[in-house]
Formats: sequence, structure tokens, C-alpha cells
Amino acid sequence: MTVPPVDGPTEPPHVTETRTAYDTVAVDYARLLEGELARSPLDRALLGHFAELVELEGGGPVVDVGCGPGRITGHLAALGLDVSGIDLSPGMVAEARRRHPDIDFSTGSLAALDLPDASVTGVVAWYSIIHTPPASLPQVFAELHRVMRPNGLLLPAFQAGGFSVRHEQAYGHTVTFEAHRHDPDHVAGLLAQGGFRVTVRTERAAQDYEKTPQAFLLARRG
Ligand SMILES: C[S@@+](CC[C@H](N)C(=O)[O-])C[C@H]1O[C@@H](n2cnc3c(N)ncnc32)[C@H](O)[C@@H]1O
Repeated sequence: MTVPPVDGPTEPPHVTETRTAYDTVAVDYARLLEGELARSPLDRALLGHFAELVELEGGGPVVDVGCGPGRITGHLAALGLDVSGIDLSPGMVAEARRRHPDIDFSTGSLAALDLPDASVTGVVAWYSIIHTPPASLPQVFAELHRVMRPNGLLLPAFQAGGFSVRHEQAYGHTVTFEAHRHDPDHVAGLLAQGGFRVTVRTERAAQDYEKTPQAFLLARRG
């Protein structure tokens, strides 16, 4: 399938590479991560906290950016949120639609969302900024700031570190892509510079197959 670049005609090579990789692994990624949330009480607690704060803001649209097969999108919908999902990979979007036919999913990029200014109350970026190089994070946060309402909530989750890893294999496939283990201090600083107030910082130790601690930030759009 040929898909026009969602970042424009000069799409950075790492974006094309990330899309190709996730298109390749989409079906197996969805299968392997099925049930992961049920085994992750901290993840559910943070998502529940986010959902309650969105309701306290009066509800309103929430978008799961880099939604993959929609496992977090589906959970947020079950919590009662008006949520949709956006992902770079058409393969992931197809998998999300198949698994959650009642939720709206579309292809799109974190760096250029097809959403009006100040149109969403909440944004979840669950392990999706991990393929954005640190130098490009300010552009992504500026785009999230643009689409969010004042006081809206942003919840990014990512592997913590401060270094990058090149993968040649993933989810049983030969694929090449880069994963950035962002430094939580750096991400929190960029969010503050980008007009967000970081209100919660959580980090937990690596468990099971994980190689690094996991970081979760909750920020309010100023
Ligand atoms: C590790 S998966 C996480 C998927 C999902 N959030 C979850 O927790 O299962 C990363 C996802 O982010 C998407 N992604 C990576 N870079 C993106 C970008 N620049 N714009 C939109 N989606 C992106 C990938 O296509 C992939 O589906």
C-alpha cells in the first residue's frame, strides 16, 4: 500500500522507517501486548487518574496519539471518555479498527495533527514519543499544545534513560528502527518551556523483560 507522507513532502527518514517497522509488526504487536494493561496496575491507576481529571474539566474530546492497535484507546473509552486514536502506521490503524470498531481511528503524525486549535481536553502519548529524536520533541510538544484547550491534560509514558537504541528485530520480525529512551528531566524541562505545567512525575523500576525504568508525566496546558 502506498501512503502519502503525513509529515509533508520532506518527511524525515526516521518517520518513514518507524511507519514501515510498525506496519510490519502490527498484527503480532497487538497479539503480544494483549492483556498487558490487565497486568499493569500502575498504568491503569495513571490512566484512571487522567480520565478523572478530564471529567473534572467537563469531559470533551481526548486523543490517543501513537495509539498503535488501540489498547489504551479502548481502555479510556471503557472509562467513559470520548476518545479517538491517531497513528503513523496504517497497519496499526487497521488493527485498532478491527479490535475496536466503535472507536474512531485515523492515520496521522504527532508533529502535524489534523485537528483544530484548542479542540481537545486530553492527549495521551503512551510510548509514542519514543521514536521522536530528542531534538524533535519541542516541535511535537508545540503541536500538542496547539490542539489542546487551556488547562487540558497531557499524559506521556516512555522508557527512561537518556540514550538511543537501534533495533534490528522486534515482535518476531526483522525490522529496523530507532527507539529513544528519553531523560525524564529533559522531557519535563521541554514541556515547561513549551507552555505546560508538569503536575505529576512517576518513575518505576524495570520489570520482567524491560531494560530501563519507565517514566510517566502528567502536564497541564498553560
Ligand atoms: C510502542 S508503540 C505504542 C502503541 C500504543 N500507544 C500502545 O501503548 O500499545 C508506538 C506507536 O507510536 C506510533 N508512532 C511513532 N511515531 C509516531 C509519530 N511521529 N506520529 C504518530 N504515531 C507515531 C507507532 O506507529 C506505534 O504504533
